[in-house]
Amino acid sequence: MSLMNDMEKILISREEIQEKVKELAGTLSEDYKEEFPLLVCVLKGAMPFMSDLVKEMDIHLEMDFMDVSTYHGGTSSTGEVKIEKDLNTSVEGRDILIVEDIIDSGLTLGYLVDLLKYRKAKSVKIVTLLDKPTGRKNGLSADYSGFVIPHEFVVGYGLDYEEKYRNLPYVGVLKPSVYGG
Ligand code: PRP
Ligand code: MN
Ligand code: MG
Repeated sequence: MSLMNDMEKILISREEIQEKVKELAGTLSEDYKEEFPLLVCVLKGAMPFMSDLVKEMDIHLEMDFMDVSTYHGGTSSTGEVKIEKDLNTSVEGRDILIVEDIIDSGLTLGYLVDLLKYRKAKSVKIVTLLDKPTGRKNGLSADYSGFVIPHEFVVGYGLDYEEKYRNLPYVGVLKPSVYGG
């Protein structure tokens, strides 16, 4: 038995992810070397990316964690967001780098960026491993982005289906039979 048996296809391999993470970490290390940035990991999906990214960043940085849940109900594009776990660190005057696994509608990050600016962060930027531009409901775009992906439901490397598959080291598409299809 392997979780690989549940996959229809692999979109991004472990090797491709690791190479991209190193590349992003190199760029971020250069851009933030003078700043002592606060990296904000958006739980739970961004945990594997955050973990790999910081290990490749050769500068001083601080880490904190936030958990929010979004309700994408109805046809509303405003997006209601609830804070499940807030930061322990004050963001006032800090250079913030929000770390995400994926931007889909953009509603989660739209809310977070506004919140951190309201709390007087000096700067707020976004690094995301995956970007699904076809899902977007606002004008949000990442400052640093790993891969643009097509309009498909993907799992792995933090992304879940019913809380499962987050631990896969690659990103892929599930077989329809896994959903009972
Ligand atoms: C997923 C993903 C992003 C967000 C992207 O998180 O990890 O955080 O949705 O979607 P959006 O751009 O449409 O807002 P989710 O809320 O499922 O929580 P999780 O990270 O705990 O899985
Ligand atoms: Mn998430
Ligand atoms: Mg999820």
